[in-house]
Amino acid sequence: GTVKKIAVLPGDGIGPEIMEEALKVLRKVEDLFGHSFQFTFGMAGGGAVDRVGNPLPEETLSLCKQSDAVLLAAVGGPKWDNNPPELRPEQALLGLRKSLNLYANLRPAVLFEGLENASTLKPEVVKGVDLLVVRELTGGIYFGEKKRERLEDGQQATDTLVYHEREVERIVRRAFEIARGRRKKLTSVDKANILESSRLWRSVVDRVARDYPDVQVEHVLVDNCAMQLIRRPADFDVIVTENMFGDILSDETAMLTGSIGLLPSASLGEGMTGLYEPVHGSAPDIAGQGVANPAAMILSAAMMLRHSFGYEEAATAVEQAVRKVLADGHRTADLAGPGTLAVGTEEFGDLVVEAMNAYEPDPKVPLE
Ligand code: NAD
Ligand code: IPM
Ligand code: MN
Repeated sequence: GTVKKIAVLPGDGIGPEIMEEALKVLRKVEDLFGHSFQFTFGMAGGGAVDRVGNPLPEETLSLCKQSDAVLLAAVGGPKWDNNPPELRPEQALLGLRKSLNLYANLRPAVLFEGLENASTLKPEVVKGVDLLVVRELTGGIYFGEKKRERLEDGQQATDTLVYHEREVERIVRRAFEIARGRRKKLTSVDKANILESSRLWRSVVDRVARDYPDVQVEHVLVDNCAMQLIRRPADFDVIVTENMFGDILSDETAMLTGSIGLLPSASLGEGMTGLYEPVHGSAPDIAGQGVANPAAMILSAAMMLRHSFGYEEAATAVEQAVRKVLADGHRTADLAGPGTLAVGTEEFGDLVVEAMNAYEPDPKVPLE
C-alpha cells in the first residue's frame, strides 16, 4: 500500500513521553496490518520558542502541510507563561488549526469498562457515558480582534467573539452528519440569552435541522449544560458548540470518564491533513517522571488511522487494546486506586502493544 506521511510534533512537558508510546503503537499497526508510515519530527511550542524564537516555525508548518496527518502531543508550560502572545507555545496550536483550516474538533468521551469507579461522580451517574463534543475550532473569541489599552484610570483589555453564519453552518452540518451515524441526538450549546453570536448560532442550527428530520435537536444554554453534564451525562450523544464553550465543556467530560489522560481528539477541515492531539495539555506538574497516562495520545493516533487514512480495522484494534489494558486493571497514576495495578507511561504503552498481539478481527464497538 501507500506510505502515509505523518508529521510528529511531541512538544513540551509530558508531550515527548506520551508521543513515544503512540509511535510504538503505530509501529505495531504497521506490523499487524501491513500499513506503512513515515514519521517526520517537527518542533512546536515552547521548545521551538527556545531554539528558534518561534512557536510554529515555518519549517514545521510546511512539514505539516505536506503530510497526510499531524500528530501533536502537547505544548506549553510555566517557563513561557509570561511571554508576549506571539512567543507563547499555545500559538503553535492556534496557528496550525487556522492554517490547516481545521474547524471541526471531535472530542469523544466514553466510560471504559473497569473505570466505573474512576470518576469523582457516582458510578450509577456515569454508567453508559458515550458522548462526542463537536467543537468549532477556528473562530469565536480565540481568533477575534484583541487589544490592550492604557486608559487614564488604568488598563483595559478586549477580546472579540465573532462568527459568520458560514462558519456556524459548516460545523453544525458536520455535527448533524455525525449524529446521524450515532444515536441521532444533537445538543447545541450556546448563550443565546446574552450573546448575539449565539442567537445567530441558534438560528443556523434551526435552519440546518430541517435537513435532518431524523435527528432530535435540543438547545441548551452553556451554564445549564455544564450542570446537566454532571447530572445526567449518559443522556448526551453529540454536543455541538462554539470554540471556547467546547474547550471548557470537553475538560468537564474528562471527569465523567475518570481522567483527562483518556480523552483524544481529531481536528478536521475539508482538506486532507487532519491533526490529532489529546484534549489535555503538557501537564508540567508531572512532566519528566514517566507517570503520564499515554492513553489519550494513543487513542488520538487511532482517530488518525480512522479519519485521515480510513484504516478502520487498525483504529478499532488500537482502541480495543487500550480498553483491554484498562479492563485488566492496569492504571497510570491519574487513575490508580484500590485493587489496581499501578504502571508508568512506558509500561502502559507496552501493555497496549502486547494486547494488540492478541488482536483478532472480532471488533468490539469502536470508540466513536
Ligand atoms: P493540563 O491538561 O496540562 O493538566 C491539568 C491536570 O491534568 C494536571 O494536574 C495534569 O497533571 C493532569 N494531566 C493532564 N494530562 C495528563 C495525562 N496524560 N496523564 C496524567 N495526568 C494528566 O492543563 P493545564 O495544567 O491547565 O495546562 C498546562 C499547559 O498545557 C499550559 O501551558 C496550557 O496552555 C497547555 N495546554 C496545551 C494543550 C495542548 O497542547 N493541546 C491543551 C491544554 C493545555
Ligand atoms: C485545548 C487547549 C488549547 C485550546 C489551548 C492550549 C490553546 O486548551 O486544545 O483544549 O484552548 O484550544
Ligand atoms: Mn482545552
